[in-house]
Amino acid sequence: MDQDSRLLHKLTSYSATDAYPFHMPGHKRSHDIPGLEPFFDIDITEIDGFDNLHRAEGILLEIQKQAAELYQAKDAFISVNGSTCGVLAAMMSQIPRGDTVILGRGAHKSAYHGLYLQQLTPIYLQADTLPFQIPGAVAPGQIANAMDEHPEAKAVVLTSPTYEGLLLDVEKIAEEVHRRDGILIVDSAHGAHLGFTHCMEKNPVNLGADLVIVSLHKTMPAMTQTALVLVGSDRVDAENLKLHLGILQTSSPSYVLMASIQESLLYAAKYGEEGLSRMAESGKALTAAVRKLCKHVLVVDGQNDLGTREKWDPGKLVITTLQGEMTGPAIYQYLRQEHNLQLEMATGTYALAMLSMMDKPEAYKRLLDALVVLDRKIETNEIKETLQGDDISDDEITLKSNDSLLQDDMEKKDFPKTVIPLWKALNQAGTEMPLEEAVGKVVGSFVGLYPPGIPMLVPGEKMDRQRYEEITDCLKRGLQVQGLVEKQGGLYLKTIPVKNE
Ligand SMILES: Cc1ncc(COP(=O)(O)O)c(C=O)c1O
Repeated sequence: MDQDSRLLHKLTSYSATDAYPFHMPGHKRSHDIPGLEPFFDIDITEIDGFDNLHRAEGILLEIQKQAAELYQAKDAFISVNGSTCGVLAAMMSQIPRGDTVILGRGAHKSAYHGLYLQQLTPIYLQADTLPFQIPGAVAPGQIANAMDEHPEAKAVVLTSPTYEGLLLDVEKIAEEVHRRDGILIVDSAHGAHLGFTHCMEKNPVNLGADLVIVSLHKTMPAMTQTALVLVGSDRVDAENLKLHLGILQTSSPSYVLMASIQESLLYAAKYGEEGLSRMAESGKALTAAVRKLCKHVLVVDGQNDLGTREKWDPGKLVITTLQGEMTGPAIYQYLRQEHNLQLEMATGTYALAMLSMMDKPEAYKRLLDALVVLDRKIETNEIKETLQGDDISDDEITLKSNDSLLQDDMEKKDFPKTVIPLWKALNQAGTEMPLEEAVGKVVGSFVGLYPPGIPMLVPGEKMDRQRYEEITDCLKRGLQVQGLVEKQGGLYLKTIPVKNE
């Protein structure tokens, strides 16, 4: 590819000229703020020769075309506001306001915000919960049944891969959805790398999904905030999608971010096959080595340990302990404090490490060595001392022996009852009350862990005992639950009144 077609090259060349910026941004490419020079140098606005994302016809249109070609999609659109904006734009542009939509309950909060903005009625689909409390996959049959029971619902919004790397059977799901004349939107925020290697599942856009949203910044070598919306079929109203991306995105998208989108795609096109094959092999080797060397620590192998039929993204390492010897937050904290390994997130039962095509062999070695040391410390009971020295209680380290979380049988957890539609409830005035008193009341805010950003409670839902226990359990394990307010030494939750109550 010639250098002039590369946005990054155009930006660096331009900054080397004596063109004076009598325009935004206000830093004027000056070097007066130490440390920011490299960013300021290539940070421009929509000046001549650099196109306009909201009316792309030059270099930015070219980047979008390149993206579409690489993903073998019909079209591709840039989001500089992450998959969050992509999911919102997809839902707002493809699902008429006030409609009914089929939504996997494990959706990211952006999809719930889409329900709110578009005033949609959700038909939730709950996936199985797998051993170690890992969320399972929504099955094609569930979607077919939901569409048959709710023929008014013509849109299905699902997440694949999940945060933990579980890949839905998008091909079959798409068949079911299309047979019923529906449209399938897949939030593939964690799947931008899918499609760049033959050793992994294809990208959902090549498996029949109509609209796919990918966060480049999550698994590709791109800067934070970068994402793409990929169009897979003519069922998509592309003009309406463009309109909504225009409404939801800044009118001054960052050229630094957009250059990183193009560079990450070019890099993946050249080195993705090699880098992702290495990632998959190294991840598998690490998983096998932990199995061989450790008695307590486990890196979960989806097919072997969980017995799932679905495929798993090898880029996610779910790290747990076989008998609940340590909670997710304790593993997470141990690896950070003792080995300087910063993981992506922790839930009550596991911690999650994310890989990408950019990880070098040393990274796998460091993680393996650390897990082996951790295993020894658990074996000799040393781990409690290590972490207790850091003000962690016994409860926060171990899961307690009678824990139901390690059960082998898959369990289906229902979700709370919706009393007031989300789109009415989110904005409603309410009262903050102590958490325990909120049992039986309708909540006025989202409650959940972030990450992964999947709500346990959605505004308008009734907080039942099960949810109360889930929340207090998370707190006991040292996790921060968003949506709770700290007040007068306790935790409060916003509740809203129900008419006739
Ligand atoms: C499944 C899923 N969808 C969407 C998002 C939002 O992505 P972004 O951070 O790119 O806005 C996330 C973020 O964690 C996510 O996990």
